[in-house]
Amino acid sequence: MKGIILAGGTGSRLFPLTKVTNKHLLPVGREPMLLHPVRKLVEAGITRILIVTGTEHMGDVVGLLGSGREYGCEFTFKVQDEAGGIAQALALGENFAGGDGVCVLLGDNIFADGIGDDVAAFEAQGSGARVFLKQVPDPGRYGVARVEGDRVVEIIEKPEDPPSDLAVTGIYFYDAEVFDIIRGLKPSARGEYEITDVNNAYIERGTMSFGTMAGWWTDAGTFPSFHLANELVMALEVGDE
Ligand code: G1P
Repeated sequence: MKGIILAGGTGSRLFPLTKVTNKHLLPVGREPMLLHPVRKLVEAGITRILIVTGTEHMGDVVGLLGSGREYGCEFTFKVQDEAGGIAQALALGENFAGGDGVCVLLGDNIFADGIGDDVAAFEAQGSGARVFLKQVPDPGRYGVARVEGDRVVEIIEKPEDPPSDLAVTGIYFYDAEVFDIIRGLKPSARGEYEITDVNNAYIERGTMSFGTMAGWWTDAGTFPSFHLANELVMALEVGDE
């Protein structure tokens, strides 16, 4: 399995911190945000990693990560010319994936648990897709899952009236069919190619499984969540000393 970290976007919700740099280069704890998803992949044994980011800060992203030798992995870099949504960024990974399954992480998702067990669960599943759900107090900010029994039956992006408090985190497993699914997508009302539409396509095919996050999880794309991510990571780092 290969890893893909999506680290593009304008970071508009963190302006002016993102006026001259990429959101994923901002600090979370003692390291730039982007190193957190890198370490999660490497810890789970995924060492071939594609980084997708915009043109503006690719130089700084490469300057931070280098070849990957320092982190025990091998990086490939791809430019997303303009911000057109998560699914559009993921589409750039087709040649890199080369027919293999992929673990896709949104570069601003920060979480405590390891993902090794879910890598194994997805490998055992063999095809289809797998998402991670997390109970949150403010589900309307995310993709929200409607679960019936042991199945996710629908994901709704930023619903006004959330059907549950289960956010779909930015940690996804896909088989190689994901790239065909993306080719068939149409942009959403906000003009983006939505990862939620990709996930609903797998749900319709009946090939979506899910895991739940036991430990804490947050994104870091707004001021409150950026602050929270820093507090949570700092608490872990202090605990490690
Ligand atoms: C994106 C996805 C959303 C998901 C979230 C997780 O939202 O569209 O489904 O729940 O990431 O971080 P965004 O952060 O782009 O608003």
